[in-house]
Amino acid sequence: MTHHLRELCRGIEPPSQRDSGAKRAEVALPGSAVALLPDGHSRIQSALNPAGVEAAGIENLFWWMVAGTTVVWLGVMALTWHSVRTHPESFNRRREAFIIVGCGAILPTVVLSILLVFGLSALPGLVAPAPSGSLKVVVSGEMWWWRVRYEPAEGQPIILANEIHLPVGEPVQFLLESDNVIHSFWIPSLAGKMDLIPGRTTRLAVTPTKTGLFRGVCAEYCGTSHALMKFDVVVEEKEEFNRWLAHQATPAAPPDNPLAQRGEKQFLANGCGACHTVRGTNAAGVVGPDLTHLGSRLSIAAASWPNDSAHLRRWIADSDKIKPGAYMPKFDMLRSDDVNAMAVYLKGLK
Ligand code: CUA
Repeated sequence: MTHHLRELCRGIEPPSQRDSGAKRAEVALPGSAVALLPDGHSRIQSALNPAGVEAAGIENLFWWMVAGTTVVWLGVMALTWHSVRTHPESFNRRREAFIIVGCGAILPTVVLSILLVFGLSALPGLVAPAPSGSLKVVVSGEMWWWRVRYEPAEGQPIILANEIHLPVGEPVQFLLESDNVIHSFWIPSLAGKMDLIPGRTTRLAVTPTKTGLFRGVCAEYCGTSHALMKFDVVVEEKEEFNRWLAHQATPAAPPDNPLAQRGEKQFLANGCGACHTVRGTNAAGVVGPDLTHLGSRLSIAAASWPNDSAHLRRWIADSDKIKPGAYMPKFDMLRSDDVNAMAVYLKGLK
């Protein structure tokens, strides 16, 4: 399993870090998530490895398209072969006209019409809303991370960031928003993509069929760090999901050791609370991600880096290098032991 975790970290480090060999820290996964890691974790972001009803429909359509285009391609290749082999003396006008009309017009028309009908018939299933009463999750595209708001049937909305948990076997209604530029929400293993468009709310229904860890991405170029705008999706059994959500709804536990207490003081004294919320403290900013349970997340910086104190330290001190263009200012003016204390505090926010 340790090997699997290392491989997972490899996958989420920026290329510059991949082969450095130095300090490859491990992701501190919560116990439940460790059990969830799929064996073929390299396929956590593959539309050809469907783990949801909608993605299975898209995969099916993909293979029909491959079959149809193969038929058209074989027709064109046969025509090419025929034209190269035919001697001018044996030219037969009627035969050639028949071949040109047959392979050049009738065959593609028939094949593409079948694919069109097939594609259109698959569409309603992909854009249909989830049944009423389904779990609602509002996702806002930010620059460059994901604001996630669970809206349970009872109780207050729960605001989180960059990590989505879903119960297996249940339809979920995503409501997608943006107040900046156009992003696109895509979890290849679970469903199709849907744009997040400023000024309107788009919808996407997702019904996961397999438990596991999956990767979501932004699929529409949205600025400098578009490629670093990712998120983790954990599909788990309903009871586990309910436990997770109930925990996420609670305020942060106060730090229980002197280093983390010093980190909390630094966090509040340096104005981090102007942008970030840590429920249970004075930090109530809404510009950046909610950090109340940051320590429990699988990764940081929108699924770009492993969530450990080494990467947290670098993120605090060098955010501009890790995510160019992000609103998070770098705090490289702080003493390194203060940055360390803040990283320990944040990592402790389980
Ligand atoms: Cu957000 Cu690309």
